[in-house]
Amino acid sequence: MKNIVILISGRGSNMEAMVKACAAEQWPARIAAVVSNRPQAAGLAFAAQHGIATAVVDHKAYPDRDSFDAELARVIDGFAPDLVVLAGFMRILTPGFTQRYGGRMLNIHPSLLPAFPGLHTHQRAIDAGCHVAGATVHFVTAELDHGPMVAQAVVPVLPGDDEASLSARVLAQEHRMYPRAVRWFVEGRLRVDGARVQQLGGEAQVFTAP
Ligand code: GRF
Repeated sequence: MKNIVILISGRGSNMEAMVKACAAEQWPARIAAVVSNRPQAAGLAFAAQHGIATAVVDHKAYPDRDSFDAELARVIDGFAPDLVVLAGFMRILTPGFTQRYGGRMLNIHPSLLPAFPGLHTHQRAIDAGCHVAGATVHFVTAELDHGPMVAQAVVPVLPGDDEASLSARVLAQEHRMYPRAVRWFVEGRLRVDGARVQQLGGEAQVFTAP
């Protein structure tokens, strides 16, 4: 049984999708804990209701990133993680932290990386006149929203789209893609070779709306 620790900052809908898929599909893994940097994160209640350990490491209580990351790592390591999953975790992590979990930490970013790292990705895709948008699951490296890409989900940008409509279309695909990518990791079905990640079972690493 592999231990997964999920980090959230808010709503936690990707975490929810993962908790449900892990149980329904009987992964060789358990969600050992959900950790938030915000005490009010809505996702904490869902996790607690499902019998999952929760913890809060409030970034406001720490004077700098190093001390916050040190405490976060201490809490995470208490759950002996095989994999750390960032699911809407809105903090920039120090190089020491990303190194500690190198090769065993995934993130989902709501753009087709390497386009649009950072914030406001959907509005930026609309403003740039993109015809497609999406999300990317990637291994976390020291560089923000960067690292070997495990899977990408692609959706059309439709005439009349605004940030809300586009983000909803992308989010629906995130909920399909992220649990699948995490399952591949815990089943040992990913091979990383530099920037390239191969799914060893030959499953598609591109998700499109059904
Ligand atoms: C998602 O769009 C994810 O791609 C981004 O933050 C959002 C988190 O949503 N990193 P949720 O908290 O999982 O509902």
